[in-house]
Amino acid sequence: MLKKVVQDALNAQVKIEAQSSQVYLAMAAWAEIQPGIDNITAFFYRHSDEEREHMLKLIHFINERGGFSVIPALEQPQLTFPSIKHAFQQLLEHEIMVSESINKCVEIALEEKDYATSNFLQWYVAEQIEEEALARTINDKLELIGDEKSGLYMFDRDILTVSMEAEK
Ligand code: FEO
Repeated sequence: MLKKVVQDALNAQVKIEAQSSQVYLAMAAWAEIQPGIDNITAFFYRHSDEEREHMLKLIHFINERGGFSVIPALEQPQLTFPSIKHAFQQLLEHEIMVSESINKCVEIALEEKDYATSNFLQWYVAEQIEEEALARTINDKLELIGDEKSGLYMFDRDILTVSMEAEK
């Protein structure tokens, strides 16, 4: 049976994962109407789907442990971005926030001697290392490209390889 303090922390994380999915969905919808960045668009849509999976995994865990998973209300995400670079900068900042929040959940689980939850959360700890690394790689590439249109065209091609390598 989950202790209330652990359940509350996990439910807060459900909201963060759900909100992440919305944030990236908004980036995807915005990217979709920009010319020539189909792979970047697909990347954001896929990332949004992954966040929904992260959320579902938490929901099932909470309920399977005898808790109650609260489906949260979400905030309106940012809808437009000054540039692709800005969107990816926000993605990185967002992932750093998610990592901090996961770490907080682990801390609470350990304080409560809830080793099953701590163990379950290790998957998220590892996932966050990968997501932050991927976001940093993308931001570094965009930094090199600057504002060149031709660079962005190549980046749109590269993002397929970058994200596939990250998933290996
Ligand atoms: Fe589920 Fe990208 O954090």
